[in-house]
Amino acid sequence: MDRDELKKMSAEAALEQIKDGMIIGMGSGSTVIHLINLVVQRIKNEGMDIMAVPTSYDTAQWCISSGIRLTTLDEHPSLDLAVDGADEVDPNLNLIKGGGAALTREKIVGSAAKLLVILVDESKLVKNLGEKAPLPLEILPFAITPVIRRLQGFGEPVLRLSKKKLGPIVTDNGNLIVDLHNPKIMNYSEMEIQLNNIPGVIENGLFIEMADLVYVGSEKGVNILTKL
Ligand code: A5P
Repeated sequence: MDRDELKKMSAEAALEQIKDGMIIGMGSGSTVIHLINLVVQRIKNEGMDIMAVPTSYDTAQWCISSGIRLTTLDEHPSLDLAVDGADEVDPNLNLIKGGGAALTREKIVGSAAKLLVILVDESKLVKNLGEKAPLPLEILPFAITPVIRRLQGFGEPVLRLSKKKLGPIVTDNGNLIVDLHNPKIMNYSEMEIQLNNIPGVIENGLFIEMADLVYVGSEKGVNILTKL
């Protein structure tokens, strides 16, 4: 099975968390798109009624074109549930997110939810965060050069460039993304605070003690990880 099939399996299993009438934080990325497509089937077949707070322009467009009603954190500051993907998951359900550059809104939406459910394929599981994926940070463009200098103390910072447009990618919030390769993470919570204390850093992709459940699609089936 390829990774996308495993992602779809995790989304199929996590569908059990979505109940009629819920206000849901909708994450970003290819795994969440599978979930959106499945939710749409339930809306059509069962008349299920949900509303979503999207974490990115991309997710908002998928929801709109699929017929999922959107709402905002202003209208619903407390969400029943948030569902999202991740780039890495450690055994304590700590995460690295931001591969799709949506980390800031994802962290805000995830923290507004009573339950944060993460969907991944088994390739995302790691012993220690930073093992496979770089750690993304969202940076105010005005501060990019001094921030990159400061980040050199934490790993190897690289400004994320666009694939189809010349120059750096610009986030949905109008900022830049720096990927910190080989991050020197000793203590997750301390690192999170230190990074966010650098003036110009909007947010970093460490999601510490936020996830409640992780659905892992694997060749053997879907494994559900819960907080220890
Ligand atoms: C978006 O910024 C990320 O946090 C995604 O949730 C993460 O990159 C997972 O993406 P996939 O579901 O596409 O693997």
